[in-house]
Amino acid sequence: MKGSEAGCSYPTSFYKEGIKKMALREIRVQGDPVLNKVSKPVKELDQRTKELIDDMFETMYHYEGCGLAAPQVGVLRQVVVIDVDDGNQYVLINPEIVEQSGESLDYEGCLSVPDMRGKVKRAEKVTVKAYNKDFEQVAIVADGLLSRCIQHELDHLRGHLYTEFVEGELCRLEDLPEEE
Ligand code: NI
Repeated sequence: MKGSEAGCSYPTSFYKEGIKKMALREIRVQGDPVLNKVSKPVKELDQRTKELIDDMFETMYHYEGCGLAAPQVGVLRQVVVIDVDDGNQYVLINPEIVEQSGESLDYEGCLSVPDMRGKVKRAEKVTVKAYNKDFEQVAIVADGLLSRCIQHELDHLRGHLYTEFVEGELCRLEDLPEEE
């Protein structure tokens, strides 16, 4: 299954009968070469891309992540889903950071690097341009966790994991120093 867009190929009867079926996708973990490849832009919002987005949300919620990028499910397309509990479900297609300011150092984790955490320096505030779930161009101004998450997910689309940028130790989740 590795290297292919596993899970995309429903029997054609699904389409003919108009049955919508979401599915969990396999999360690729660090060491899988697909995570180090550059994703291609999405040209149109076809059925396959819509199903990818639905599956990415389902997979992200199932594994309790706050963001997921398509390469993490083995698909090299510029698609990101995010839910940081601010009441929005963000779909970012072909996203691009057009403005950034400030600096913030905080812990991150990643579903592709299970049970680990590390501190990464990010811009505090970003403006990202992208296409949304209806393939309309939008601009989102973000700070805090949403900003951090956007920057983390966009790195995935360029083939980078946060572990490359960790300042200090990458630690196991259970060894994290207590904060707060
Ligand atoms: Ni990640």
